[in-house]
Amino acid sequence: MKPTREKVHASRPQPSGRAGETRSAQRAEQRSTPANAGLRQSPSPERPIPSRRQGSLPAERLPVILEVLPNEDYALLDSGDGQKLEKYGAYRIVRPEGQAIWRRALGEQEWQKADAIFTGDTDEEGLGRWRFPKRPLGETWPMRHDGIDYLGRFTSFRHVGVFPEQATHWDHMAGLIEKARRPVKVLNLFGYTGLASLVAAKAGAEVTHVDASKKAIGWARENQQVARLTDKPIRWICEDAMKFVEREERRGSRYDIILLDPPSYGRGPKGEVWQFFEDVPRLADLCRSILTPKPLAVVLTAYSIRASFFAIHAVMRDTFAGMGGTVESGELVIREKGAGRALSTSLFSRWIAP
Ligand SMILES: C[S@@+](CC[C@H](N)C(=O)[O-])C[C@H]1O[C@@H](n2cnc3c(N)ncnc32)[C@H](O)[C@@H]1O
Repeated sequence: MKPTREKVHASRPQPSGRAGETRSAQRAEQRSTPANAGLRQSPSPERPIPSRRQGSLPAERLPVILEVLPNEDYALLDSGDGQKLEKYGAYRIVRPEGQAIWRRALGEQEWQKADAIFTGDTDEEGLGRWRFPKRPLGETWPMRHDGIDYLGRFTSFRHVGVFPEQATHWDHMAGLIEKARRPVKVLNLFGYTGLASLVAAKAGAEVTHVDASKKAIGWARENQQVARLTDKPIRWICEDAMKFVEREERRGSRYDIILLDPPSYGRGPKGEVWQFFEDVPRLADLCRSILTPKPLAVVLTAYSIRASFFAIHAVMRDTFAGMGGTVESGELVIREKGAGRALSTSLFSRWIAP
């Protein structure tokens, strides 16, 4: 699942400036559109809102569109009429896709070759069910990304155990780790089935993987075995992401690269509530305070939220004020194999060290 591509539509990186002085930051603050209408301040006394960091804002680069291209392990074959047809390894899979408001480009016979079809509720966490039109399939099947074997998985929430659009972030992170030519520590928050953790470990990093779901941690460990990377240093931790980072700050543990891929709403193992709009500014700020003196990057992805990438861009630039570097923000998209249309999957904003 390697081929990825980066498209920058900004004319050139904008230089850094004093906090609050850049035009895009002003625009993001001035507009009160439905896109940022959901932003709320945290009311919780035990999770106070961090005060604004002082210093020059990092340079900015946006919009950056990171594309996953069709390849032999994964391809978006077609989409339209509220569905998408994808190839994951040996299987063709049909799932609901709310954004596919256009018509299908491939003929019915191509869609009828599907091995698995997810039907039912199209909500992010809605229940639904898998149907296997040709023959019954097991829960998992072999998949591969850039030489790393892992398992695809039919889950009850229509997910298949991997988010292929993340591959551009994985490539970028692996490049940073290899180029660093020194020991690199990676923290993967909301790590799910562990693909990013495996990519980081294979590239030579020492990895800490955190997820609230015991089941997801189990799947991630299984993937480590399938990938034959059990000799690599990965700590698998089942914990609330915010609590974990708070503790790491107190303990003085530090990381060079931090990945955050939080849901819009989630719960920690002890019922701790995660709410994207309330918690992201604080978590990003805490992540800044657990960086090593020579950090490499912090990568935030956001999906299923009503916001523009300008919102998370503003949070990330404010968070890394005074640290130099560049904040790049935009969308992660998957390019269709057939008609070449782009399917947007998520927003991202990443700080890259100078
Ligand atoms: C979309 S997945 C992340 C995908 C992953 N980055 C990848 O590319 O495979 C979101 C994950 O966040 C976890 N999660 C939800 N709430 C959490 C919390 N409060 N603390 C830690 N993890 C949480 C879920 O269990 C789920 O595995």
